[in-house]
Amino acid sequence: MTLVDDIKSRLDIVDVISGYIGLKQAGSNFKAPCPFHDEKTPSFIVSPGRQTWHCFGACSTGGDLISFVMKRESMEFGEAVRLLADRAGVSIGTPVIKTNSTSIFEMNDSASRFFSSLLHSETGQVARDYLKSRGIDQSTAQNFGLGVSPTPATNSSIYHHLKSEGFSEEQIIESKLINKYQDGNTGDFFRNRIMFPIKNRRGKIAGFGARSIDNSEPKYINTPKTDVFDKSGILYGLDVSHQSIISERQAIVVEGYMDVIAAHQHATNNVIASMGTAVTDTQLSQLKSLCDTLILALDSDTAGKEATLRKLEETLIDSVDKNMMGFNRRIGPIIRRDLVEIKICLLPEGSDPDDLIRNDLTAWQKLIKESVTAQEFMIESLPRRFDLQSGSGKTAALEWISGLIYASNPFDQQNYKEKIAGKLEIEATKLDPILREMGRKSKTTKRSRNTNRPRYTRPESNPAQDIPNSEVSLDEYTLAIMIKSPDLTDVPDNFSPECFIRSEDREIFTQLLETGKLEVLKSNIDDSLKPRLEQILDIQLKPIDLSESINILKQCFSRIEERHLRKLQEGLLSTEPSFTSSKDLEEAIVKMNMRLKEIHSQRG
Ligand code: UTP
Ligand code: MN
Repeated sequence: MTLVDDIKSRLDIVDVISGYIGLKQAGSNFKAPCPFHDEKTPSFIVSPGRQTWHCFGACSTGGDLISFVMKRESMEFGEAVRLLADRAGVSIGTPVIKTNSTSIFEMNDSASRFFSSLLHSETGQVARDYLKSRGIDQSTAQNFGLGVSPTPATNSSIYHHLKSEGFSEEQIIESKLINKYQDGNTGDFFRNRIMFPIKNRRGKIAGFGARSIDNSEPKYINTPKTDVFDKSGILYGLDVSHQSIISERQAIVVEGYMDVIAAHQHATNNVIASMGTAVTDTQLSQLKSLCDTLILALDSDTAGKEATLRKLEETLIDSVDKNMMGFNRRIGPIIRRDLVEIKICLLPEGSDPDDLIRNDLTAWQKLIKESVTAQEFMIESLPRRFDLQSGSGKTAALEWISGLIYASNPFDQQNYKEKIAGKLEIEATKLDPILREMGRKSKTTKRSRNTNRPRYTRPESNPAQDIPNSEVSLDEYTLAIMIKSPDLTDVPDNFSPECFIRSEDREIFTQLLETGKLEVLKSNIDDSLKPRLEQILDIQLKPIDLSESINILKQCFSRIEERHLRKLQEGLLSTEPSFTSSKDLEEAIVKMNMRLKEIHSQRG
């Protein structure tokens, strides 16, 4: 936790601002005449939920408690942080110690170089032949940092290597690169396997996957859980794929290391792997902030698995619950949040992306193009999951699938209903009465999560439905590009630092624009911002040319701004009803809607 996070977790924005001005409750928010400009009707809103403030009037700006204090007290970022730290009882200036995590990353890095050098040494011949037989060329092997671990017969071991690099046995055990046995002896965890470094989003090696070369079992072993590695929280290849994912607005999730590598070798760069398990929430949320469409390329085995279906159900239905929102008279339809569309690409029996891509790239591309929405895929799965011959089976099926119907727009709804009726072998017209009956029943019994759903319908033409939810990852990525392409100073007119989620990011962004150079920024920056700046600098970007980065940056800004506008809109909604009188507010809403339209039309 950074100092800023610590402070923010201890103080409440309403308390802090109340110390300066009188706030009145308005719905779930608080309001007041803006302290930064002269006005009669209040257009200054504080949201305790989001811990933010915003003036919807003349200032049309906002931020968090730090920026409030900065503005109110005319302080620099660091000064405001210190004032608030004092108030929160947080002590400043604890020195940064080298953590466990840092040394594990360092060991992994060193191990990876060791494995690669073995691959290119004399003893690496068998492994090199193996990679060749799998169609992996040298430059791809290099890009992915592939290597080989020493055979048991040799004297060489990762243990000795890391020892010679100055790591202690204790540290090496933490990295899980070696086993410690009961008799006190140690042994390498990986022996005679092709080594796949698994990098986190920032490009740091968190762990390894390792394939047997002679097809002995188990085929793969992976680094067990460490302080920096948890297979379910990482997507293999995201470090090299995220730029393509952002620019194509689409990500393809495959299962295996080899699939990702083949894809990248054949210039399909938006491919990452879940590493053999159903996609987890952590993995999903990493992708949601980067793209609009997520294609899961599933082999026929996986696709039939209950775990996969349950995951889809959970994802789709949960996203409905979270995003369900009303229609506001003044604002219009409020935009859904989690707007990543999940599609399924069903692979022919017995083939995986690796084979397909290497043997018939066109067929692979065609399959990807033909992927169906997760909704359609779930409808198709009905006969596999339920006994559709019986009335109770049909009811169960309908209960399960009805959440999806209600989550979609009227056109899709109609389409899904017809398909579902087809599967249940009933007339489409009978479906509505049955659904109503089920809804009535569940109301009188228990509130069922599938059937008692409010029917939110979204106009088909709403362009916002393709925009993803964005998270801090998008912000840090944007800042990383800005820092690494200092020639780009082209920030859109409307873009305000307030659009970033974190206080540190807002400040780093502001200072970046002011100083223009990393060196200047680094030498002037307040201590409280340093950890965050380090994090951003740690992000490894693939070399991109200028025109590409201009483009990517544009997209990033437009997404960040849109996310911000949507949050403001949501915030306004929860301020109702006592807030409808302000003219400023009405104007602000109109302006926001116009700006959202503009953003969408620019994206085309
Ligand atoms: P696959 O069996 O599809 O492997 O498992 P693959 O990547 O296609 O490898 P090749 O083509 O047989 O060499 C998919 C993924 O599941 C995980 C790995 O991440 C693998 O890439 N897995 C599989 C394991 O972790 N352990 C295993 O024993 C098998
Ligand atoms: Mn394979």
